[in-house]
Amino acid sequence: MNINWYPGHMAKTRRVVKEDLKFVDVVIELLDARIPFSSRNPEIDSLTTGKMKLVVLNKSDLADEKANMAWKKFFLQNGDNCVFVDTLKGKGLNEVKSALREMMKEKIQHAKSKGLLVRAIRTMVVGIPNVGKSTFINKIAGKSIAITGDKPGVTRKNQWIRINEEIELLDTPGILWPKFEDEQVGINLAATGAIKDSILDISEITIMLLERLRDHYPSQLAARYKLSSVDNTGHELLNIIGKKRGCVISGGEIDIYRASGIILDEFRGGKIGQFSLELADDRNIAGKQ
Ligand code: G4P
Repeated sequence: MNINWYPGHMAKTRRVVKEDLKFVDVVIELLDARIPFSSRNPEIDSLTTGKMKLVVLNKSDLADEKANMAWKKFFLQNGDNCVFVDTLKGKGLNEVKSALREMMKEKIQHAKSKGLLVRAIRTMVVGIPNVGKSTFINKIAGKSIAITGDKPGVTRKNQWIRINEEIELLDTPGILWPKFEDEQVGINLAATGAIKDSILDISEITIMLLERLRDHYPSQLAARYKLSSVDNTGHELLNIIGKKRGCVISGGEIDIYRASGIILDEFRGGKIGQFSLELADDRNIAGKQ
C-alpha cells in the first residue's frame, strides 16, 4: 500500500517541528494505543535527540486493556515514560501532568538549589494526523489562557498555553508523517481511520481487519454479528456480515463496499469491542520491528 506523502511536505514538516522543539523541555509524543508501532513516526528518535520525551497513548478507550498493560511494560523497558489516555473523556490527563512534573523534578531541584528562578515546564505535542493532537490540546488546556507576548516560540501562529502553574504547552502540535514502506502499517493506519477512506480500497482493509479480529478476538466478533462460527476467510466473513446487515444488491449479491463501510465505522467507534491491532509481544525494540 502506498501512502501519499510527498518528500517536499515531509522536509517542511521536519523543519517546522525542529524549529518549535528548540523552545521545549519535554516532547509529548502522541500515539494511537491500538497501533503504537504503526502510529509512530519513523524519525522520532532523531527528531527529539537531546529532549525528554513522554509517550502518550491516546484512544485507550478503543484499545484492548490487556494489550495496553503489555505496551506500558514494553515502553518502560525501552526507557520511555508512558501514559495511557482517553482524551475524549479526559481520562489520564492528570497522569500526564504528574509525569511531566516527575520528569522535570531533578532539573527544577537543581535550579532551586542554585537560587535560580524556576520557570514553567515547556511542552509540545507531536504525532501523525488523526491521532488526537487537537483534541488532546483542547482538553488538557481546558479554560487555560494562551500567553501572548515577547517570548521564544511565540510567533504569529504559535502561542503558549498555561496548563497550570508548572506547565506550558505550545498550542500548535507538530504534525509528523507515518511509516510508508511497511504494508501492514498502512493497513493498520487505514483500519483505525488515520488515512482517508477515499484513497483506499476499503473492502481490502475490512477483509484484513476481519481476519485480525477472527484470530485475536473471535468471541467479540461472533457476538457483535451473531455468527455461529468465525471459522471463515476474511472475504467470507465480509459477505456473511454484509448479508446479515442487509447489504444486498440485485441478484442477491452482497454490496461489499457498503458492508465494509458499516464494519469499519463500528470498529472505529468501538462498537464491536476494544481491540488492539498490534501487540507488544510482537516487538523487540520501540520503533523497530
Ligand atoms: P489530530 O489533531 O491529531 O489530527 O486529531 P484530532 O484531535 O482531530 O482527532 C481525530 C479524531 O479522533 C477525532 O474524531 C477525535 O474526536 C478522535 N479522538 C481523539 N482522541 C480520542 C480518544 O481518546 N478516544 C476516542 N475514541 N476518539 C478520540 P472525529 O472528530 O470523529 O474525526 P474523524 O475520526 O472523523 O476524522
